[in-house]
Amino acid sequence: SPDALASLADIAATLARSVGDTIRSLRETGVDVAATKTSINDVVTAADRRAEKLLTAGLRELRPDDGILGEEGASIEGSTGITWVVDPIDGTVNYLYNLPVYAVSVAATVSDGAAGTMADGRRAVVGAVYLPVTDELFTAWQGGGAQLNGVPLDGPAETPLGSALVATGFGYTVERRTEQAAVVQRLIPRVRDIRRIGSAAADLCFLAAGRIDAYYERGLQPWDYAAGALIAHEAGAALLGRGHDAPGEPMLIAAAPGSVGELQAEIEAAYATL
Ligand code: IPD
Repeated sequence: SPDALASLADIAATLARSVGDTIRSLRETGVDVAATKTSINDVVTAADRRAEKLLTAGLRELRPDDGILGEEGASIEGSTGITWVVDPIDGTVNYLYNLPVYAVSVAATVSDGAAGTMADGRRAVVGAVYLPVTDELFTAWQGGGAQLNGVPLDGPAETPLGSALVATGFGYTVERRTEQAAVVQRLIPRVRDIRRIGSAAADLCFLAAGRIDAYYERGLQPWDYAAGALIAHEAGAALLGRGHDAPGEPMLIAAAPGSVGELQAEIEAAYATL
């Protein structure tokens, strides 16, 4: 019901903001890489772990029977049908270098078989993404539109690919990056420009706000895009996946509804040459 969604949205927003404030102040005292994950480029800081503990504790207190899935390992089965999918710091490499674009991403998801913005059988119904450096809180719930600090967002404008500012991101393995380089090589002469912003959650929120015209990335994990994809969708963007993705490695392609096909066709053409 709208009331139930509003109350979940309130929790998502409150937690994203408070954890965001914490990671921003932790950053002021400096950051060390605590560990690497899938490759030397895939880093985790002590702040990622601390922030995920804070998120988990906050959710356990407010919603003790819900499930939780987090980037840094949180995995709790719930009994309510709702699973929170959280990324304590999306944009960890930016965070490490003190580049100001990093985000806390919090989404409430359900798996009821209905179509939605996620590629793993879940459906995000509520999302909040908070960028602590710029104090920007992006929010959405299913059917309720998307907002930035409470102001409704209109999504990206229809833009021919030749004048589109296109954001993307790269995975952490050499194989994935080699494949992604081929796509970038195809796109660069055909678009206004390309951005590698460094946070999938921010990319999707910036698309919702019309700060970029399109975004695509392959190999995202649910916590990277659960909240951001719902926010982009609710702002009016069209989100596509690709049919031949490996399980767990969706290719997200997102832009204004009349523009997304042109980008998809170029990406398909690049993959066809691999
Ligand atoms: C990463 C960022 C990045 C994207 C990677 C993600 P993390 O998330 O969203 O922009 O290109 O695919 O893994 O590791 O900083 O939470």
